[in-house]
Amino acid sequence: MKSRVPRVVALTGAGISADSGLATFRGAGGLWEGRNVEEIATPEAWAADPRSVWRFYQERRAALGGVQPNPAHRALVELEQFLRGIGGAFTLITQNVDDLHERAGSQPIHMHGELLQLRCENCEGRVRDAKHFACDQFLPCAECGYARLRPDIVWFGEIPFALDLIAERISTCTHFLSIGTSGVVYPASGLLSMARASGASTFVNSLDEPENLNSQDHFLAGRAAQVLPQWVSEWMQQWSQ
Ligand code: OAD
Repeated sequence: MKSRVPRVVALTGAGISADSGLATFRGAGGLWEGRNVEEIATPEAWAADPRSVWRFYQERRAALGGVQPNPAHRALVELEQFLRGIGGAFTLITQNVDDLHERAGSQPIHMHGELLQLRCENCEGRVRDAKHFACDQFLPCAECGYARLRPDIVWFGEIPFALDLIAERISTCTHFLSIGTSGVVYPASGLLSMARASGASTFVNSLDEPENLNSQDHFLAGRAAQVLPQWVSEWMQQWSQ
């Protein structure tokens, strides 16, 4: 039996950062030098052509300095503060590897990793780095001396982070928000149906209807930076009455 106190889980995808100027994966501009992301973001590509993979991620790491969080990122912070104030709970899960949620004031679960974190394949040590963006230079591990840190990104064929924690939060949520994701990359795409199955009210924002949309979901069409602040404000008002 769910308590009356709302427990909200939000899942974000590339669409929420599109309004900040970062390209989505599957829309126009989703290709990199004519190649699909699925060809670059794999352990096989890293093994066969590490220089190209490193350049791909170094470009993305460097680009973070030129973008800012937008009203959709900030609306989720407002929602979290409201929920904490009424004794509710809020969990933010993101597929995004940028740091825009953090810069807006959230502490998301990065299920697909983070651009600003690198990982040693030898000693598994992790390091945060927001300084070294040269495309033609690998970074060595300061801990064990291994020559080449890899991006701490979940590549295709690898298991996303924190799946147990995510499943636990979804199994007890009362409301689930899916924002700016095409709903095609598993297992993130399955979280909406998990929330539905656990009895949560489900809200889906995107430009187009995502693959995993169901007739029980409330679909909120439009740009996240416009739709989400309004939805959050209305939802908080309703809950305050
Ligand atoms: P996609 O590029 O697959 O989908 C982006 C979604 O956002 C689409 O449904 C768009 O309609 C929608 N969209 C675009 N602009 C929007 C806006 N301004 N407001 C709201 N929605 C908008 O991105 P993801 O679903 O996040 O994985 O992709 C999932 C994963 O595939 C990524 O995390 C990445 C990629 O390979 C890894 O890096 C491991």
